[in-house]
Amino acid sequence: MRKILIAGNWKMHKTQAESQEFLQAFIPEITNTNIDPDEERGIILCPTFTSLGLMSKTLHGSRVRLGAQNIHWEDSGAYTGEVSGAMLTELGVSYAIVGHSERRLYFGETDETVNLRLKAAQRHTLIPILCVGETKAQRDAGKVEAIIENQLQKALVDIDQSNLVIAYEPVWAIGTGDTCEAKEANRVIGFIRSQLTNADVSIQYGGSVKPSNVDEIMAQPEIDGALVGGASLEAASFARLVNYQL
Ligand code: 13P
Repeated sequence: MRKILIAGNWKMHKTQAESQEFLQAFIPEITNTNIDPDEERGIILCPTFTSLGLMSKTLHGSRVRLGAQNIHWEDSGAYTGEVSGAMLTELGVSYAIVGHSERRLYFGETDETVNLRLKAAQRHTLIPILCVGETKAQRDAGKVEAIIENQLQKALVDIDQSNLVIAYEPVWAIGTGDTCEAKEANRVIGFIRSQLTNADVSIQYGGSVKPSNVDEIMAQPEIDGALVGGASLEAASFARLVNYQL
């Protein structure tokens, strides 16, 4: 069954102290929710590496899972600045974002390194959240499907699709306030699903998701969750996203 997953990607925001402050405000907001507890609505927070350890302790026993924002493909070695799967699982991390467009754009991430990182995550029993999506120029050129098909084909070589989440993040909608129209996001996510061998993979939408548009986005039949940047940084705002109403 496809699981609903609302994830916050904090990018390079929040010190440990600020992360703890967020949790103190956020946890009561999700405890006092009137959402049916039988309804599967997973909550994931992906802070910086430096906040993972402390947040893991604070969140122990809660329904919030932790995700890393990246993972290296080797288990150890001379890779300055990188973090391995074992280092993440030791901290109680369950997910790892792989191939975010900011990694592709600023840090030279390619479809090949994305594939290696996905494999490493699965080898360490982490569930990877694979990000795919087109730029504005690619969309304007009518290449949405071709770009995404190519990203998926290369990323998913030898990847177990029963242990995978995908996020459709159109690059032009990230951090711009310019959300992809809900029906269009639904259409592209349906296309992504048509490229998979496992129909049960949860596929999130990401790109300027906020309290004012989350209900419409989550009402779309193909969309199984959201990967949220800016609107996940403030406890009340992220709680509103988690408690979206249909
Ligand atoms: P925004 O929600 O800030 O647009 O960021 C989306 C994103 O990149 C999540 O990974």
